[in-house]
Amino acid sequence: MTDYANLFRLDGKHALVIGAGSGIGRESALALAAHGAQVTCADRDLAAATETAGRALTAYELDVLDDAAIARAVDELDPVEVLVFTAATNVRKRILDYSREEFDRVVSLNLRASFDLIRAFGRGMAERGSGSIIGFSSIRGTTVEPGQSVYAATKAGLVQLLRTAAAELGPSGVRANAIAPGVVETPLTAQIKADQGWYDAYAQKGALGRWAQPSELAGAVVYLASDAASFVTGSVLAVDGGWTAVDGRFDPPN
Ligand SMILES: NC(=O)c1ccc[n+]([C@@H]2O[C@H](COP(=O)([O-])OP(=O)(O)OC[C@H]3O[C@@H](n4cnc5c(N)ncnc54)[C@H](O)[C@@H]3O)[C@@H](O)[C@H]2O)c1
Repeated sequence: MTDYANLFRLDGKHALVIGAGSGIGRESALALAAHGAQVTCADRDLAAATETAGRALTAYELDVLDDAAIARAVDELDPVEVLVFTAATNVRKRILDYSREEFDRVVSLNLRASFDLIRAFGRGMAERGSGSIIGFSSIRGTTVEPGQSVYAATKAGLVQLLRTAAAELGPSGVRANAIAPGVVETPLTAQIKADQGWYDAYAQKGALGRWAQPSELAGAVVYLASDAASFVTGSVLAVDGGWTAVDGRFDPPN
């Protein structure tokens, strides 16, 4: 009989959260730990990761742009049974104003580092015959506005990367999924919050009429990490307050 009361428990599982120093990564690390996981809080910013980790969790300095550092992390941290990565950046500029340097910066962190992490930690998961890989896409993987070009392309690309990982690693018992948040109040979106008109327009776009707090993304991470999602792979879980469901351009009269 399935033990439904413990379906979301992660006792004894080693979860590595990269980007754990801030925003959604921080809340994901705390939520995974609250469900019993042994969590390594990794971030380029060690002080921030240490703040997340407190006394109970482990902090780890990792720059995902450094492939030698990723290889070292595999040696030092494996077996990793749950891999969550959130590190990403956005340059909000129109295509005609975008530089190649900015393109490379966004693609390197959002896409290439994700590719490197899936390869690095997916190998051990496949050998051991289990694991859950969770990456962060975005509403921008589906729907755009002026200024989102490269970020949106990386977020759509990440979905296809994770779907392919699901296809290739599924036979070895490894699951790979994406979470697609809507607008969440974190340092990544501070530029938007600072502009009242922009902030309010985003709040009104979704069905719930507001922004999310980063803690509201953590449940999706726990779900995808746990046996509650044992048959879920290759999926994109929207946690966007209805942003992608609602067209929003007009409210017809009754
Ligand atoms: N905040 C939103 O509204 C929103 C919306 C949709 C999607 N997302 C996605 O969710 C994810 C998390 O976003 P967030 O808002 O929590 O971001 P954030 O900026 O608050 O946190 C990102 C973390 O990644 C770390 N980081 C940056 N570069 C790194 C590197 N090279 N190596 C290791 N760590 C590095 C940073 O130090 C920081 O702690 C991102 O992938 C983002 O694209 C966010």
